[in-house]
Amino acid sequence: MNKGELEAVARSLVVPGKGILAADESAPTIEKRFQAIQLASTEENRRAYRDLLFTTPGVSGFISGVILYDETTRQKSSDGTPFPKVLERQGIVPGIKVDEGAKALAGFPGEKITEGLDGLRGRLAAYREQGARFAKWRAVIAIGEGFPTSYCLEANAHALARYAALCQEAGLVPIVEPEVLMDGGHTIERCEEATTETLSRVYEELLGHRVHLEGTLLKPNMVVSGKESPVQAGVAQVAEATVRTLKRVVPGAVPGIVFLSGGQTPRQATEHLSAMNAMGKHPWELSFSYGRALQDPVLKAWKGLAANVPAAQKAFFHRSKLNGAARHGKYSPAMEDSA
Ligand code: 13P
Repeated sequence: MNKGELEAVARSLVVPGKGILAADESAPTIEKRFQAIQLASTEENRRAYRDLLFTTPGVSGFISGVILYDETTRQKSSDGTPFPKVLERQGIVPGIKVDEGAKALAGFPGEKITEGLDGLRGRLAAYREQGARFAKWRAVIAIGEGFPTSYCLEANAHALARYAALCQEAGLVPIVEPEVLMDGGHTIERCEEATTETLSRVYEELLGHRVHLEGTLLKPNMVVSGKESPVQAGVAQVAEATVRTLKRVVPGAVPGIVFLSGGQTPRQATEHLSAMNAMGKHPWELSFSYGRALQDPVLKAWKGLAANVPAAQKAFFHRSKLNGAARHGKYSPAMEDSA
């Protein structure tokens, strides 16, 4: 492990003004996203979609890295350039999703465990060879009656730590993603409690596995009200609860925290991030690694039609720029309408 290199890559992913695009939807997930625009999930449609994202003019001003899915690493832009190269040329760091999905946790109804540790060492070496410099593993923690259980938190934290240690051995920065889901009617207080417990377990395991925290990034949920909760916390409350929680459990050695959007609207995700950065200086960079919050407007503008590519790229540029402003705490809703 070259610690200096890992630290440099981690820091470059969270440089001020920029964040990460999560474009690592697995085959079933991208199918779901395409269904919303009545588009078949063929290999060519998936390629064309990623091509439009990765060749959006000027987007490298706001996007530091892109998380790819296995298939995408082997696909090419319309001019024949492999996607990882297309990104590198613009100074965007290519990353890769390496988990194999969250599966039912046997014996614990309603809870999940992420699979993918078997053979991971070999896969990480191959991805590094292809140009990847960072990786992602997502653990899913659900809130419900009687859960999250301590066993589920422990099993997922342990898997995240094993993944992170293997990544660093292979020269890849691990993005550690324990996502406490928004699904359910729970309060923001319950989300805060579950997020605190989840993250404290995760850091206990990471340290126990001798993971070099300075060469990692954390990708957590924000602390929000459950989607079906009748009481929805406002922007200031979400920002304060999220920062308070992170301060309690995330060591200052971690260079950056890159939030997932998790079902927030694009505007909410930007507003929340901006409010947190406007609170002042934090021990870590607070940035984004959004999937849906960056891509929803792009898919709506594109609809699978070549003629709509310029409009879709414009939508991607605009959303990225707004999130770039949120990195400085400088987003305002009035900016939504500016082209
Ligand atoms: P969302 O921002 O859509 O939650 O996706 C981020 C991600 O990479 C989930 O693993």
